[in-house]
Amino acid sequence: MKKRFKCSSCGNIVPKWQGRCFECGKFNTYDEVQYKDTPIKKNRLSGYSDLSNKVSQLSEIRNNDFKIEVSSTGLETLDKVLSSNLGLVKGSVSLIGGDPGIGKSTLLLQLSGIFAGQGKKVLYISGEESEGQIALRSKRLGLTEKESESVYIANMSELEQIVNVISQEKPDFMIIDSIQTIYSSQLSSTPGSVSQIKECATLIAQQAKQQNIDTFLIGHVTKEGDIAGPQVLEHIVDTVLYFEGSEDSNYRTLKVHKNRYGNTNEIAIFEMTEQGLVEITDPSSIFIDNNYDQNEVGTVILATQSQNTALMIEIQSLIDQNNSQYAKRIANGIEFNRLAMILAIVNRISAIKMNQLDIFVNVISGFKINDASSDLAVFLSVLSSIQDQPIKKNTATFGEISLNGKLRLNKGFEKRINVASKTGFKHIIMPVIKDKDIVKRIKKNNPDIELIMCESVFEAFEKAFER
Ligand code: TYD
Ligand code: MG
Repeated sequence: MKKRFKCSSCGNIVPKWQGRCFECGKFNTYDEVQYKDTPIKKNRLSGYSDLSNKVSQLSEIRNNDFKIEVSSTGLETLDKVLSSNLGLVKGSVSLIGGDPGIGKSTLLLQLSGIFAGQGKKVLYISGEESEGQIALRSKRLGLTEKESESVYIANMSELEQIVNVISQEKPDFMIIDSIQTIYSSQLSSTPGSVSQIKECATLIAQQAKQQNIDTFLIGHVTKEGDIAGPQVLEHIVDTVLYFEGSEDSNYRTLKVHKNRYGNTNEIAIFEMTEQGLVEITDPSSIFIDNNYDQNEVGTVILATQSQNTALMIEIQSLIDQNNSQYAKRIANGIEFNRLAMILAIVNRISAIKMNQLDIFVNVISGFKINDASSDLAVFLSVLSSIQDQPIKKNTATFGEISLNGKLRLNKGFEKRINVASKTGFKHIIMPVIKDKDIVKRIKKNNPDIELIMCESVFEAFEKAFER
């Protein structure tokens, strides 16, 4: 027996006491324990005589008529997100993460209604809300009497109880709301800790696979935007989805982070209404104000691409005199480091003293842009604010900026132009397309939009603020 220290939160074991656990980040969780190292058995690799039945020829497996069984959710974009068009895969375990109040429980109760309507038995395990609260919500969401007969609600959070309920009820579809509220009474660590989450998710996923139940685990996200109990959960489940949006907007975006049954190139966008979430099948122009031709100072429309979907989205910036020692930099919806780089370029090419300015950049609707081609829009938006002058009317833009100020063309440019044109924009400021044939094709398909192709930010700047 040796003296060791064990974290009461995540179970990590270290030789020396420490104030903060490196594994889970909690403070003051280490207690002294007596610990016995298990010696490695000498002949631990022997004892298996024939394992040939554990190995199969791929061709043989392929001929076995292997089929993935799916259920359509009836929502076109959601089916795409779940498995490239088909719907929810039988026996798959999905994790859906998102900020509190974003609509995770709403979405899954709506899905419960849809599957119940298809004659499936649904088990909704809630460790957060009472049965009454769920019932009230189901009325608001318009679940019919008939649908609600097939939805079973269990308000419990003890893992051992839940596993038993699952094997007793044998549902076709089940929801665990949320994985952070579930705890195993066999573990001493606190509910919500890494070791609890891992244990609970593993056991529930095992049970789901054994009984072939389509399962959704709801997870909360941390301040950093990861699902609490980071990474550990991602390996346990088949699909990881994130539900995003902001409190002051009704739009919600469902993005795929990992998918064993489809690609990760799809998004689904919903609007939160009084009757719950409504799917938006053409999201191309929902993120812009209808008055985009009015032109406001600091507002620039980015033709962005989120996974496979091209969207027009409004980027706004605001500049203020900074009177303190440290200038403020706020980036909402775009990466802070990209903003810093863009501001360095503005600093470089203009005589403006950037350190005397507070700069706020905001993407409307709480949409999170993960697109290098947003650089040019941010650049023009900041310069529009600094100059107190709007950019050219009816203009959309996209393009990545290199450190030397040159513009780079990224993938998906044709789709962006098509969507900008369809949405009614008349000009698009963008990097140069070298291939003449592609330019010809784009012009033929979009005769009403002028392609303003620029080599560098300098050129883009001149063309955007042309009088
Ligand atoms: P909820 O699904 O409880 O969020 P989560 O489970 O992600 O924490 O969503 C709660 C919010 O959604 C709440 O602020 C009210 C709003 N909402 C509607 O606007 N319409 C509706 O029909 C429902 C059910 C909720
Ligand atoms: Mg909830």
